[in-house]
Amino acid sequence: MYNITLIKGDGIGPEIAASVLKIIEASGVEVNWDIQTAGADVAETEGVPLPERVLDSVKRNKIALKTPVTTPIGKGFRSVNVQLRKELDLYANLRPCYNLPNVKTRYDDVDIVVVRENTEDLYAGIERQVNPDTAESIKIITRNASERIAKFAFDYAVKNNRKFVTVVTKANICKLSDGLFLDSARKIALEYNIPLKEILIDNCCMQLVQNPNQFDVLLLPNLYGDIVSDLCAGLIGGLGVAQGANIGNDYSVFEPVHGSAPDIAGQDKANPTALLMSAVEMLNYIGEKDKAKKIKNALFKTLESDIKTADLGGKYGTIAFTNAIIERL
Ligand code: NAI
Repeated sequence: MYNITLIKGDGIGPEIAASVLKIIEASGVEVNWDIQTAGADVAETEGVPLPERVLDSVKRNKIALKTPVTTPIGKGFRSVNVQLRKELDLYANLRPCYNLPNVKTRYDDVDIVVVRENTEDLYAGIERQVNPDTAESIKIITRNASERIAKFAFDYAVKNNRKFVTVVTKANICKLSDGLFLDSARKIALEYNIPLKEILIDNCCMQLVQNPNQFDVLLLPNLYGDIVSDLCAGLIGGLGVAQGANIGNDYSVFEPVHGSAPDIAGQDKANPTALLMSAVEMLNYIGEKDKAKKIKNALFKTLESDIKTADLGGKYGTIAFTNAIIERL
């Protein structure tokens, strides 16, 4: 019996969480879920969107599965996701991107791993209104955070037999901040037998769209990593299938790349695949490799049977799709 925190956000969060918990239960993994809510509704009742009880639960259990949380745009509270990653020092955001069976995409054989720095850059939240017509955001890049994320990317490459790491920056323009990130990657690369390639973010985006198969592990600062993750999700069938994990030295939080999708919330339209694939990685992480494989196989067989949600061109709702996976376990 595992003790795992489930951080339940809003939007499609509750629907995809119900789906994934049902599949995990049916697979035979016994989990004592410590369910913790976060987000705007919680802010109304408890005063803050990310109460201490959520952080305490992750600290207790060391591991969490998380659904998306809506962040108010241009006003309101700071992103729960950014806060969580900072508070728990989940410095590495890991987003493997590869094709799923029978999911039609522009390219075959995409197999890219996005490693995004998770704690600083423009996400440090240091902003000020200089005067009514001018606002300022400060981009923080430190040597310490840049070296540790570079080390994470290279360690991942070694453990997973990847061939090279490409560091992505705009160091021609942000000479000091991105320059420091690039410099740190170059320094760490000297400790490994894996080559480091370098590319500027604008060219990287074009190359990803034209020929994604040329990339292996991508190493990026926070903001570019955020944007490129969505671009890579688009290469493999969209946000409904893109998995992710936030990893630190002490805790790990597994969550999909996508947001709370308020446009389809409560309509039985959400694709639970991204959260399910994140959960599969979580099971691998805790050593439940056989069960992880069993769930992944059932998902793949479901997709191969042409049972898909609307975002992948199918006609199945969240619940019917979930039941089809369970039947194939
Ligand atoms: P989004 O990822 O929620 O949605 C973008 C588009 O993809 C929408 O058309 C949506 O319907 C579709 N989509 C996303 N996930 C899907 C799924 N599982 N199945 C089917 N279709 C899916 O991005 P958006 O609209 O920019 O953000 C909505 C909210 O989510 C915002 O408040 C944002 O701040 C928040 N957000 C939260 C994240 C997190 O909790 N980790 C990550 C990204 C955004």
